Amino acid sequence: MEKSVQTGSAGTKPLLRVLQGERQDIPPIWMMRQAGRYLPEYRAIRARAGGFLDLCFNPELAAEVTLQPVRRFGFDAAILFSDILVIPLALGRKLWFVEGEGPRLEPLSDAAAVLALGSEPDQKALAPIYETVRRVKAELQPATTLIGFCGAPWTVATYMVAGRGTPDQAPAKHLAAREPQAFAHLIDCLVEASVEYLRQQLDAGAEVVQIFDTWAGALPPDDFERWCVQPTRTLIAKLRAQRPGTRVIGFPRGAGRNIPRYVEETGVDAVSLESDIDRAFARDEIQSHVPVQGNVDPQILLAGGVALDREVDDVLEHFAAGPHIFNLGHGILPQTPIDHVAQMLKRVRG
Ligand code: CP3
Repeated sequence: MEKSVQTGSAGTKPLLRVLQGERQDIPPIWMMRQAGRYLPEYRAIRARAGGFLDLCFNPELAAEVTLQPVRRFGFDAAILFSDILVIPLALGRKLWFVEGEGPRLEPLSDAAAVLALGSEPDQKALAPIYETVRRVKAELQPATTLIGFCGAPWTVATYMVAGRGTPDQAPAKHLAAREPQAFAHLIDCLVEASVEYLRQQLDAGAEVVQIFDTWAGALPPDDFERWCVQPTRTLIAKLRAQRPGTRVIGFPRGAGRNIPRYVEETGVDAVSLESDIDRAFARDEIQSHVPVQGNVDPQILLAGGVALDREVDDVLEHFAAGPHIFNLGHGILPQTPIDHVAQMLKRVRG
């Protein structure tokens, strides 16, 4: 399975080499939500910035928090500090964050409101984010990879329709069922806006992009195909038509046994795995086709101790024979002790 690769532009960057299909003895490592509240230096900058969105749109401070975890732990990748919901904002929807609760948007409650939506993001509004990418790129060591990202159209749509996070994504599912044409318009707008958003991140210096589909697991097979797989496939194809060779990591969270189909149809270069996927299945049916990323359970990282050592060893053992990027199955929890992150890194790197 291991491909012979030309290092080319991947050069000395372990993460890019894995994305080309090359196995590394010590897998490159980064963490979802690595810039976040578990770090005191993040909390200090966050307090200085004001609100979370003020931080996202302040290139100086956003670049600083992007770099903090890379400096502290020597991660192999930096991920742009921003949020998937800046796209609805740039499409003219109101967005705010309620402290301790999460995002709020003005909901898209009927077909008329959805059909009034355009697909051209306000690039002036997004310009500070591209400036953050440029600043981070200028500061990174040559071995460190810069990851840009967006939300998948389906996941972003669930927040836009409901106006907030929901346990079951019911409002978006209902709209998709009752008004499929309007819902398709929403998805199309998000595909177009995301292509443009990722293209600008690449032009500013991002070397890889990750597509976060947090709620991919909420859909039955036919709807998964229609609202997750096909839009992601179109998004990637359009992006690669403009920027050939773009490396993409997909994160279809909760898609489980549908992941091989997702990989084949979307054309992602690698797939990020959540913690509750069966690791033997992931090795045999997914890693045999594309590099995998993941999948330490954030709860076990929080717990620490021998349980964490066992979890790290289990992930390393399962994915040792092929291309693997070490990561969590989902974002690090804010209450996680920093020592546990150091313990995990030591275990991975020896
Ligand atoms: O991984 C990183 O370090 C990069 C930055 C990043 C953030 N959000 C910063 C953030 C990324 C990649 C995201 C993606 C994101 N945002 C997703 C998909 C990934 C996932 O976690 O499933 C989703 C669904 C969102 C929407 C969102 N943003 C929610 C639901 C919340 C509230 C929950 C929470 O953790 O507070 C946010 C806020 C958010 N996004 C924070 C951060 C660091 C916390 C803000 C704070 O500092 O208070």
